Amino acid sequence: MNIAVVGTGYVGLVSGTCFAETGNQVICVDIDAKKVKRMQAGEVPIYEPGLNVLFDRNTHNGRLSFTTDLAAAIEASEVVFLALPTPPGADGSADLSYVLGVAEQLGSIIKKYTVIVDKSTVPVGTAEKVHAALAANLDERLFDVVSNPEFLREGVAVDDFMKPDRVVIGTSSDRAKEVMERLYYPFVRQGNPIYVMDERSAEMTKYAANSYLATRISFMNEIANLCEIVGADVDNIRKGMGSDGRIGKRFLFAGIGYGGSCFPKDVKALAKTAGENDYDFKILKSVMEVNQLQKKRMVAKIKDFYKGDVKGKTIAIWGLAFKPNTDDIREAPALEAIDELLELGAKVQAFDPEAMANVKEIYGNKITFVESKYDALKGADALAIMTEWNEFRTPDFSEIKTQIKDNVIFDGRNLFDLHLVQEAGLTYYSMGRDIVK
Ligand SMILES: NC(=O)c1ccc[n+]([C@@H]2O[C@H](COP(=O)([O-])OP(=O)(O)OC[C@H]3O[C@@H](n4cnc5c(N)ncnc54)[C@H](O)[C@@H]3O)[C@@H](O)[C@H]2O)c1
Repeated sequence: MNIAVVGTGYVGLVSGTCFAETGNQVICVDIDAKKVKRMQAGEVPIYEPGLNVLFDRNTHNGRLSFTTDLAAAIEASEVVFLALPTPPGADGSADLSYVLGVAEQLGSIIKKYTVIVDKSTVPVGTAEKVHAALAANLDERLFDVVSNPEFLREGVAVDDFMKPDRVVIGTSSDRAKEVMERLYYPFVRQGNPIYVMDERSAEMTKYAANSYLATRISFMNEIANLCEIVGADVDNIRKGMGSDGRIGKRFLFAGIGYGGSCFPKDVKALAKTAGENDYDFKILKSVMEVNQLQKKRMVAKIKDFYKGDVKGKTIAIWGLAFKPNTDDIREAPALEAIDELLELGAKVQAFDPEAMANVKEIYGNKITFVESKYDALKGADALAIMTEWNEFRTPDFSEIKTQIKDNVIFDGRNLFDLHLVQEAGLTYYSMGRDIVK
C-alpha cells in the first residue's frame, strides 16, 4: 500500500519504518525541515533501539522516504496516518490544534478515496472533529476517518510495533476496516487480536490503558512510602503480590514517579474529559497528586541526609531520561529533581547514556555533563540514581566509595541489593526499603 505518515516523531517514525518493513511504500511528512533533512541524509533523529537497522534497510531499498511537502506526500497515498503531537493545553485537555490543523489541510489536498487514520492519542469525540475538519473542504464519499491508537513503548517501540499485543481499530466504515485489517495483517500473524470497534471506544481504550498503568505506578509508590514508615520492604511485596495471576508482575516497581510524554498528559486529559462530562473521576485526581508528591521524594531524602542544607554539595546524577533505553526527557522526574537541587544551591554533574544532548539544550552550562558514570562521581558528595539504565545495575561499589565524599547513594529505582551496598560500606537510601547505613 502507499502510506503517508504525518508527524515523524517517536510514534510516526517507528510506525512509518515498520510499515515500510512489511513491504509498503511509506512517505513520512514533518514540518521540522531540519529533522527531515537529517532523515533524508540517512540519520535516525531519535534514539530507539533497533530502529536504525530497519530505517537503513527501508531507506536504501526506496520504501521509506521523507518530505516537508504534505501535498506531494498525500497525492499517491491510500492511507494517511496522523502521528502528531497532542500536548496538554493550558487547562489540561489535549491540544488538538496539530491534528485538526492537518485534517483541514488534507481536505483541500485529497482527490481520491483516502483513509485518514488518527494514531495520535486523542480524547473521545476527536474522530468526529477530524471528520468535520475534512468535510469542510472535501466530499464525504472521498474519505473515512479511523481511530487507531498506538500502544508502543519507547525503548522497545520497534518490537511493540512489529508484534503488538493487540491492534485497536475504531471505525464504522467497512471499507476502511478492510484497508486497516489488510495493512495490519503481517503484524498479527502469531494470532494476536485486531479489535475493531467504534471510534469513541477506540479513543477511550488508549486513555484507559495509560491511566490504568499510571494508577498502578502511583499505587505502588504509595505502598512503598508506607513500607518506609512501617518497616516493610516494597520489593518483597511486589513479588508477593505480582505472582498473583490476577495482578501480574509487570508495572509494579516503586520509583520516583511516572514521567514521559504520555502518562502525565494522558491522565490529565482523561480527567479533563471526565470533568467536561460532569463526572468526578476521583481516582485519576489522586493518581496525579501522588505522582507529583513522589517526584519530590528523592530530593526530600537528600535533604533529610544533609539535615536540610545541601547548599554547595555536588550531587552526581546517573540517568536523565524518563526511563531507560530512550533519549526522551519529556516530564522526566530527574529534571524536576535537578531543578530543585539547583534551587537549593547544590551543584549537579550528570551522566546519561543517551539523553544528555536533549538535556543540554535546556540546561546549557547550569549543570555539568560528563562522559561516563564514573566521571560523574569525581569530586561529588553524593550519588543519586534517577533512571534504571542497565549499565547502572552492577557498578563497582569500591569505586563509588572511593570517589563519593559522603559515601551515600540515593537510589530512586531500587537497583541494588541492600546487603551488597551495606558490605561496600555505603549509606543507601532507596524507595520503600530500609535505609542502609
Ligand atoms: N511517544 C510515545 O511513546 C507514544 C506512544 C503512544 C502514543 N503516542 C501519541 O502519539 C502522538 C505523537 O507522539 P510522539 O511522541 O511521536 O510525538 P513527537 O513530538 O515525538 O513527534 C511529533 C512530530 O510531529 C511533527 N509535527 C508537528 N506539527 C506538524 C505538522 N503540522 N505537520 C507535520 N508534522 C508536524 C513534529 O515536528 C514532530 O516531529 C501523541 O498524541 C502521543 O500522545 C505517543
